[in-house]
Amino acid sequence: MEILGVLGSPRMGGNSDILLDQALAGAKEAGANVEKIILSQKKISGCLDCGKCNETGICAIQDDMLEIHRKVLKAGGILHSAPLYFWAMTSQMKAYLDRWCAFFDGDWNWHKAYSRKMKGKRIGVITVCGDPNAHTADPIVHSFKSTCTFSGMNLMGVVQTSAGQKGQVDKNEKAKKEAYELGKKIATP
Ligand SMILES: Cc1cc2nc3c(=O)[nH]c(=O)nc-3n(C[C@H](O)[C@H](O)[C@H](O)COP(=O)(O)O)c2cc1C
Repeated sequence: MEILGVLGSPRMGGNSDILLDQALAGAKEAGANVEKIILSQKKISGCLDCGKCNETGICAIQDDMLEIHRKVLKAGGILHSAPLYFWAMTSQMKAYLDRWCAFFDGDWNWHKAYSRKMKGKRIGVITVCGDPNAHTADPIVHSFKSTCTFSGMNLMGVVQTSAGQKGQVDKNEKAKKEAYELGKKIATP
């Protein structure tokens, strides 16, 4: 199985990055081919709601998201990892998610060309926030969970933890194990 890791933090070696690497290591152990996408190193504009994709299934914006669309379609599972920025996901992760618009038709059903590949897609979510209450990052989970419920994808697990300083989560064996297990689970047929 192909497993895609999508990093929504711009901080390399940061907490979301560390946990995503753990999850991808778990997926690898389960036999998956893994690939990591660092959204902050890609050029991804916001969705323009131009509606062109409703007909063609192809986004009209010529940027790095076109290649990421292809990778999303191909992957059996996608692990998303992002920190909380002002009680929401980071702008990088939001731009990426909004561009999923291209997978849908004008009635918000999966575009016929993609339905078979997207229905039941395995999704994992990892959140990090500076607040000691890890559930402060629930708005990120809500966004992915609702997207999965709405479109028939399979949210297989969520890992949430608190960490503020860069790399602080490296000392949190519990969170690292949870991320590893999530990766394993998402990659286990
Ligand atoms: C612009 C910005 C906004 C933030 N907003 C919040 C917030 O609303 N709530 C919170 O608990 N932490 C907030 N944080 C803290 C980050 O979530 C925290 O430092 C996290 O560990 C960063 O993850 P990373 O190392 O993966 O980048 C914010 C940090 C930044 C840079």
